Amino acid sequence: MTQLDGPARASYVQAMFTRIAPRYDLMNRLMTGGQDLRWRRDVIRQADLPDTGHLLDLGAGTGDLAREAVRQHPGVEAVAADFTLEMMRVGRQRVREQEKIEVVQSWTAADALHLPFVDEYFDAVVSGYLLRNVIDLHTSLTEQWRVLKPGGWLVALDTTRPRRSLLTPFINFHLHKIIPWLGGLLTGQVDAYTYLPETTENFLYAEQLASRFIAAGFKQVGFRRYMFGTMAIHWGRK
Ligand SMILES: C[S@@+](CC[C@H](N)C(=O)[O-])C[C@H]1O[C@@H](n2cnc3c(N)ncnc32)[C@H](O)[C@@H]1O
Repeated sequence: MTQLDGPARASYVQAMFTRIAPRYDLMNRLMTGGQDLRWRRDVIRQADLPDTGHLLDLGAGTGDLAREAVRQHPGVEAVAADFTLEMMRVGRQRVREQEKIEVVQSWTAADALHLPFVDEYFDAVVSGYLLRNVIDLHTSLTEQWRVLKPGGWLVALDTTRPRRSLLTPFINFHLHKIIPWLGGLLTGQVDAYTYLPETTENFLYAEQLASRFIAAGFKQVGFRRYMFGTMAIHWGRK
């Protein structure tokens, strides 16, 4: 996959998420030992939403961040947007079967590089594990900047390239053995779960991603690392 670029890479990403959609949430819980739920809560807290504000969950997948936003702020309008329709379909189906009440106001097919929203509409834009996947990070960040209101926060949760440390052998074992094995077992899609470690290791260090936020126009940029430095939440303000 690392040899793919541009639209071919975007199509690969879309096809991969279409295939793993039914087991995506379960895999997330297992890979992170359930900790992603806590990180999602932190993302929404960091977004500092007004109680009746507008939130965009970009690359929303099954919509976990959008739902967490409504849990924390029942009055917000949450918009979930993604370019893989199957991920959103699975998210909506889960609501019908398990949660009964759909709290996400709208599910929108959208490419993170060309957002179908007017300028300065959202009070906050959040994303979970999107930025590592887009084929043009700068364009995606400037699009997110465009749709944010002045003063609004962009908050992104993603895997981040780990620095070498005493934990490196354990991190490598988790990334290259446990995750592909578990992914193969649960989804039958080993390539999707070798894609994850590959893109994590080829992605930016947390400091570099923060610089990209600044280059896209964001102020008050910062980040917090999680899970032995393999995850981070980044934020920046318009
Ligand atoms: C790893 S999943 C994350 C789903 C969810 N946000 C979460 O936190 O679990 C990445 C999502 O980003 C979406 N995605 C990747 N590139 C995209 C793009 N250019 N535009 C819109 N969505 C994109 C994929 O379709 C996929 O649903």
